Amino acid sequence: MIKIAPSFLSADFRNLQKEVKKVESARADMIHLDIMDGHFVPNITFGPMIVRDIKRCTRLPLDVHLMIENPDFYLEDFKDAGADYLTISIESATHLHRTLARIKELKMKAGCALSPGTPFDLVKPVMKNLDLLLLMTVNPGFGGQSFIPDVLDKIKIAKDYIKKNKLRAEIEVDGGINPQTAKLVTEAGATILVAGDAIFKSKDYKMVIKRMRESGKVR
Ligand code: DX5
Ligand code: ZN
Repeated sequence: MIKIAPSFLSADFRNLQKEVKKVESARADMIHLDIMDGHFVPNITFGPMIVRDIKRCTRLPLDVHLMIENPDFYLEDFKDAGADYLTISIESATHLHRTLARIKELKMKAGCALSPGTPFDLVKPVMKNLDLLLLMTVNPGFGGQSFIPDVLDKIKIAKDYIKKNKLRAEIEVDGGINPQTAKLVTEAGATILVAGDAIFKSKDYKMVIKRMRESGKVR
């Protein structure tokens, strides 16, 4: 089953509640929230306060994607704000194993993101601790960038590794995902698709989500 996670980075922040209702009725599976600090990535977005407000208007799981330095300082804050999935960027983690263990201790699903230039091998030592492996298909920092096809090989390598070792981690992809690239990433093994511009810049959220979800069935 393919899950679709609209990235609110591309949403209309003048009316977040309305956007939440629109993705709910378009049958999104979860809500993806991008937290950027202006240090790990050259962009600043929002923090736990907005996550809490979104939590108050939906029952969909919140998939919180941290692109920040010192993620350890903020794990409790995002738990309190209502994060269901908490994903840290491997490139900003000092003691990756400990940070993931803390996320689990706080009763959230633990995710780890790899930027396009980061090899899969680096995450292998913690793969069994992960609920989510986020393979970035753009360099993190901005919505609306073009999909990087080089990542397809990494998705296949990760998928094989998960299968061979009977692990539970789901593969999520994020960046430049639309109905066309959705077909490529699902063929390679991704099951959770994050999409910002493709959904929020369209007139018909439901149609785009449906087309992306169906890409996973064409095998
Ligand atoms: C990028 C973010 C993404 C972004 C995706 O650093 O992690 O979630 O919003 O946006 P699109 O789908 O427009 O590439
Ligand atoms: Zn993201």
